[in-house]
Amino acid sequence: MLNERDLTAYENLPVIPENEPERQFYYMAQIRKLVKQRQEELGRPLTAYHLCVGCQMNAKDSEKLLGVLLECGYVETDQELDADFVIYNTCTIRENANLKVYGRLGVLGSKKKQNPDMIIALCGCMMQEKTVVDKIRKSYKFVDIIFGTHNNFKLPELLYNRMINKEMIVDIWEDTTMIVEDLPAKRVYPFKSGVNIMYGCNNFCTYCIVPYVRGREKSRAPEEILDEIRRLVDDGVVEIMLLGQNVNSYGKNLETPMTFAELLQKVEEIPGLERIRFMTSHPKDLSDELIEAMKNSKKICRHLHLPLQSGSTEVLKRMNRRYTKEHYIELAEKIRREIPDIALTTDIIVGFPGETEEDFEETMEVVDRIRYESAFTFLYSKRTGTPAAKFEDQIPKEVAQKRFDRLLERVQAIAAEQCKKDVGKCVDVLVESVSEEDCKMMATGRMSNNTMVHFEGCKELYGRIVPVQITESKGFYYFGTLMPDRG
Ligand code: SAH
Ligand code: SF4
Ligand code: F3S
Repeated sequence: MLNERDLTAYENLPVIPENEPERQFYYMAQIRKLVKQRQEELGRPLTAYHLCVGCQMNAKDSEKLLGVLLECGYVETDQELDADFVIYNTCTIRENANLKVYGRLGVLGSKKKQNPDMIIALCGCMMQEKTVVDKIRKSYKFVDIIFGTHNNFKLPELLYNRMINKEMIVDIWEDTTMIVEDLPAKRVYPFKSGVNIMYGCNNFCTYCIVPYVRGREKSRAPEEILDEIRRLVDDGVVEIMLLGQNVNSYGKNLETPMTFAELLQKVEEIPGLERIRFMTSHPKDLSDELIEAMKNSKKICRHLHLPLQSGSTEVLKRMNRRYTKEHYIELAEKIRREIPDIALTTDIIVGFPGETEEDFEETMEVVDRIRYESAFTFLYSKRTGTPAAKFEDQIPKEVAQKRFDRLLERVQAIAAEQCKKDVGKCVDVLVESVSEEDCKMMATGRMSNNTMVHFEGCKELYGRIVPVQITESKGFYYFGTLMPDRG
């Protein structure tokens, strides 16, 4: 566990600390006492279930939420319906993410009738929407705690208040300039970790809810980021992923401005760190300096996720993406030229309001030309409060679905062809899991370009970077053979 502290020091403080994160450590100490007491009454540990949906930012937030709960004395469980504490860290990027939450809540509500002591908390992006909170207040009255993305560090304080008062608590902030770090975190993988370099987004793509639910862009100070990475490396991490909605605009608003490429160069110098990834790059801000930094780096992975969204300049304009089809193609081709072994991946939205058949063909054309190693394709989802929700010419579902199917087929066919090109090569693979299959121990890991490789291995390989000879392409992953260590 990262950032553990001795909570006993906080148990009997005469006044509640005003400063963060001390204040939350105080509340964690109080919860721990209550949890222990209840545990003794029941003769069993108190359990916590946690669900995280959405992007890497949410995953990173969830590590902190879980870290806090474990420090408070809860034991993690995968038995949602029998848990004493249930928390959903939600996403609202597309409508179906929301619908799933309501569906699950319905089931949870009936279970809570049998176990009134169960505490249910909801947090994350969905909670930043007023309509959502109103609906939960009205139709899901059994929910105990609702908080948002700007104050998720407050979980201990809110949980303690709920334990004492037994009333629904709703605490949502509109935005914040506060960045509270250093709370305990339960890391999912011992050998890799995400690291936030910035929060929020200022781009206001017209389809996207993120700027409304995550607030304005805020870069973290470089020293704090580097410190966190050093601590992670000391804790066994060899691969980090720098996280931000638009990492290419990192540092613009710092007191001493710094570019993302400069930050990368500093991260590169950290001894013991082997691999650097980042997410997400907005094409409008991707600089030659960054391409140069990637090209010259020994640690930055050969993978760039460069969301296209649409291949039509007209649609891009209405999406407020601030680049044209030509600019995007030029950029992607330059990257392929400068870094030939790079894997380019992308996000594409189909059925944006007003998208014509010709617009869609232009998207297909870019896909054919750039030949992505992989692409996430999405049906446009109308998000209340975004400008595009009010655009005329919303595309009928059947039309969008047909285009989506065509695009997906093309994207997959190209990806399968791209995935043939490394057969025969010997590559470095970071082993992410080892399990028994058909009486053999099979290891699964990722190449620098993010492609998965399966090969026969053993438990000891977990978390290590090892050489593997690629023997066969399976469309979007490879089979390989472990090679002797190059030393
Ligand atoms: N900041 C990142 C994207 C974060 S959201 C970027 O700008 O690239 C991840 C992806 O979800 C987006 O790239 C987009 O393709 C998709 N997405 C966002 N809003 C959407 C919506 N309303 N409907 C469908 N897909 C959407
Ligand atoms: Fe959304 Fe655009 Fe910001 Fe990405 S850059 S999070 S798509 S508004
Ligand atoms: Fe979803 Fe929020 Fe991420 S809306 S995609 S979890 S920033």
